[in-house]
Amino acid sequence: MYKSKITGVGHYVPENIVTNDDLSKLMNTNDEWITERTGIKERRHRKNRNDSEETSAFLGFKASEMALKNANLTSKDIDYIVFATLSPDYFFPGNGILLQEMLGCDTIGALDVRNQCSGFVYAMGVANAFIKAGVYKNILVVGAEIHSFGLDFTDRGRGVSVIFGDGAGAVVLSATEDENTQGILSVNMHSEGKYAEELAVKFPGSKFGWADRLLTEPEALTPEDIYPVMNGNFVFKHAVTRFPESIIEALTKAGKTIEDLDLLIPHQANIRIAQYVQQLLHLPDEKVFINIQKYGNTTAASIPIALSEAKQEGKIKKGDLVMMTAFGAGFTWGSVLMNW
Ligand code: COA
Repeated sequence: MYKSKITGVGHYVPENIVTNDDLSKLMNTNDEWITERTGIKERRHRKNRNDSEETSAFLGFKASEMALKNANLTSKDIDYIVFATLSPDYFFPGNGILLQEMLGCDTIGALDVRNQCSGFVYAMGVANAFIKAGVYKNILVVGAEIHSFGLDFTDRGRGVSVIFGDGAGAVVLSATEDENTQGILSVNMHSEGKYAEELAVKFPGSKFGWADRLLTEPEALTPEDIYPVMNGNFVFKHAVTRFPESIIEALTKAGKTIEDLDLLIPHQANIRIAQYVQQLLHLPDEKVFINIQKYGNTTAASIPIALSEAKQEGKIKKGDLVMMTAFGAGFTWGSVLMNW
């Protein structure tokens, strides 16, 4: 019986730092509001919004290089790619195949996952199932986003655009037949599609109608279609309910309790969501990893970036019980519990 364990982690973010003060020059906002409501102090944006080189696939490539090095593997050892992103380079094809080419992998399978902030958890769920079934041995699981190209940096978009940032993280998930307890212990994934429009980017999509309307009636395309729309309060309330539900479900399935948990790596959506969940579950500060102050919400990239930094900072030791939990657009949510 195979189990899967993480054998390498990596992350990559664009060099360009955008502070809250920088944003206050573009729109009516300020450092105090952003810090108090979200915990974010700065985020990364690619230098030039019109850049076509520093794409989400490219960021994923850089993070993957680090994860492969960390795993002591080469791209030839990888037999499948799962790439989570909501900001792919093209509407189609997806980023997985672009990464296969950039890394020079063999003609392996490459799957894109479109589950937004829960994308990385879903990607891990898929990869874990393939490994447990004995289908693949080393799977590259990637979360990468370029948000900065698609945000509304005017007063109209300030409730959304201050939150999101660019970045990428990656892990190598490998098969093990070891009898020891290391590896993924339980996974859960959930969805509630009736809330699809509470947090969404509607264009491009077939609901818009025939693409010809873009040429014949360009005014049919509104800012609400092309920029993210988010019912912030509504998302917040659902997130603080679903996070703990999913955490408890993952622990219970593995026969563990909250006291057994060594580190929670929550999707970095908003520091207040993480603090609420932390209080509810009576977790001390050292058991919840937070780096949202540096990167904002990087959606599918936020958990693997946090995992990679937590490992670099020595916050994860062999044998630790580590939980990754996410909530986001869809709504979707879920957790991955593992013994490190
Ligand atoms: N700067 C300054 N003021 C802003 C602002 C900004 N960037 N964005 C919104 N405001 C204003 C609003 O216009 C509103 O003003 P009003 O009272 O005069 O109408 C006021 O601040 C409060 O807005 P509101 O949206 O109620 O604030 P909030 O406390 O709900 O915080 C979020 C907004 C987005 C930070 C919060 O709802 C949130 O984080 N939700 C979860 C979102 C999330 O995590 N999404 C990712 C997917 S998991």
